Amino acid sequence: MSEQQFFKVTIDNITVEVPAGTTVLMAARMIGGDVTPPAMCFYSKLQGSGGKCRTCLVEVSKGSEKDPRPMPKLVASCRTTVMDGMEVKNITSEKVVDARAGVTEFLLLNHPLDCPICDQAGECHLQDLGYEHGKAGTRYEFSRRTFDKEDIGPYIQLHMTRCILCYRCTYVASQLTDNRVHGVLDRGDHAEISTYISKAIDNDFSGNMIDVCPVGALTDKTFRFKNRVWFTKPVEAHRDCDKCCGKVTLWNRGDEVLRVTARKDEWGEVKSYDGKTGWICNTCRFDKKDLKDWTIEGPSRIARHSVISANHYLDTVKPKETIQEVMGGRQPKLLMDIHKVSDVNDPSVDLSRIAGPATGATFEKKNS
Ligand code: SF4
Ligand code: FES
Repeated sequence: MSEQQFFKVTIDNITVEVPAGTTVLMAARMIGGDVTPPAMCFYSKLQGSGGKCRTCLVEVSKGSEKDPRPMPKLVASCRTTVMDGMEVKNITSEKVVDARAGVTEFLLLNHPLDCPICDQAGECHLQDLGYEHGKAGTRYEFSRRTFDKEDIGPYIQLHMTRCILCYRCTYVASQLTDNRVHGVLDRGDHAEISTYISKAIDNDFSGNMIDVCPVGALTDKTFRFKNRVWFTKPVEAHRDCDKCCGKVTLWNRGDEVLRVTARKDEWGEVKSYDGKTGWICNTCRFDKKDLKDWTIEGPSRIARHSVISANHYLDTVKPKETIQEVMGGRQPKLLMDIHKVSDVNDPSVDLSRIAGPATGATFEKKNS
């Protein structure tokens, strides 16, 4: 058996040794942090993914030890393999930063910018990209694209206007389910994700499309409009499942399980266990919304820099309560209990058990 060859590659002045055949993006992930380019279409667990969105562009300032000429154009790091002695610039290259801002502007051209009502807000890679590279205004003068509404089944909500055509969901359908019924139809600015003649996506593993979608184009119908993700508390949990690994993240509000997802790593990808990707089945994702169904392991570590990590602190010491001390031992007076004043978000309404999104009527009904 031939020996594994290793190549040295330097990315943003940090050198790392990686097996031959590794892409620049995966080499950068080994270094981690800001050196790693964003990736909206590449997904290391989905064969053939990458090369579509151009967010991962980098500058190769030295091709290799043998041929040190720089590459004439920026290259997609998810599709470019490292050469020995290669030097790459990501955030240290003005050209890259400028190109990424251009790609972001392009991805947002037709986007509805509806983050305030989008369930993906807080864990959306396009939102992160927009914050980092987006501009406050737009140069686009035309009407944004619209699509006829398409029902793709009982569990997954499709918002085509948010789709960036990364193709990840189609790879999930091809590689995880045995019967792909959806895909990218048409071409150019008519291209859209759709199912063939109103077929529903009902395969046991179809819910994983929600987890791989980098934007809010595919969201969980059972969680839709139930809560903002940063108000929920993610905990790691597992159950014995005969279809999947059963290792999930529960997104809870108090004792309610509002949403179940696969566990994600710091790149937003589904984690692997013993070399196998931890995809979860639809039963675990959509039907097990009771804490009793799960064995809780503990709070999730939110490694990403996004707003989703707001209020989620681990390994921290709660500061000492000093209010009583400064008030000479007196308890602070509660001026108002919000639940006595307003019925909205009444904690006794179990959001995970009502069909569809919660509206004012949900809370009024309870009181009538
Ligand atoms: S629906 Fe989501 S996962 Fe599918 S192509 Fe569009 S953005 Fe990508
Ligand atoms: S992540 Fe490389 S082109 Fe999309």
